[in-house]
Amino acid sequence: MTILIEQPERGSQGDEKKIVSHPNELVLDGGFVLPSMGSECGFEVAKLNSFGISFRDYDAINERQKTVEEFYRINHISQTYDFVKKMREQYGKLDKVKMGIWECCELLNDVVDDSDPDIDEPQIEHLLQTAEAIRKDHPNEDWLHLTGLIHDLGKVLLHPAFGELPQWAVVGDTYPLGCAFDESIVHHKYFKDNSDFNHPVYNTKNGVYQEGCGLKNVVMSWGHDDYMYLVAKENNTTLPSAALFIIRYHSFYPLHKSGAYTNLMNEEDKENLKWLNIFNKYDLYSKSNVRIDVEKVKPYYMSLIEKYFPAKLKW
Ligand SMILES: [Fe+2]
Ligand SMILES: [Fe+2]
Repeated sequence: MTILIEQPERGSQGDEKKIVSHPNELVLDGGFVLPSMGSECGFEVAKLNSFGISFRDYDAINERQKTVEEFYRINHISQTYDFVKKMREQYGKLDKVKMGIWECCELLNDVVDDSDPDIDEPQIEHLLQTAEAIRKDHPNEDWLHLTGLIHDLGKVLLHPAFGELPQWAVVGDTYPLGCAFDESIVHHKYFKDNSDFNHPVYNTKNGVYQEGCGLKNVVMSWGHDDYMYLVAKENNTTLPSAALFIIRYHSFYPLHKSGAYTNLMNEEDKENLKWLNIFNKYDLYSKSNVRIDVEKVKPYYMSLIEKYFPAKLKW
């Protein structure tokens, strides 16, 4: 079974940035371009971006942008407050599968990105590349290594065993529902066809929330971030709150890129955001030339999984 998992690149708002014009740039998970960190971080610069498109192939890039825009059009029309409530209730039951964290990493290997011709490396290597890059720079934060490994596991929502959700309900930037859509959200114009757009309460700045209520009380658009957060929390992980924050908000670019929605944050969120900003630097989606020897690093990650999670989790 082949399933698309590609994270769409960012749309109109960052269109200029999206055209990767220099080979010394890497593309982040959320599609952001990051200047190359050179050899200090141990990563070689990829010749192709994460969509397998040559950096100078502007036709291919234009084509890709159209696909991305269409992705966000559907996403912005379909992600409503009621939709998310329904999904959280349905998936919050965690009655789909019972498996360990490592099993899930392996399951994600079956989820292949069709749009990427450069997919010789299994997904598990991408997870481990993020984790190992963090480990190299922050050797004492073992919880952050594990967070790197698991932050994208929610993409199993694309798998038939998890209902094979469409792309717009799994990947892409996330944003709050139940309050006004901030203009910094990529392709904001498509929200005008979202049924929440003219709602008398949902279209106000604080919406259904109190100022400073804390992000944990805010309903986020549905996707792999919120799902993996639910899985970790409901299976009583002992990971610190910063790890859960990273997992839940790593695609919340309107917050960590544009500084929107700070009116909903509390003090704990502000502390945790510092860790998310550190993490984002490592959330590389580019192809790294550094191959990871999975069997070699597996015992280390198994020991972290054992430390922070039960042997079997409900998904
Ligand atoms: Fe990621
Ligand atoms: Fe992600």
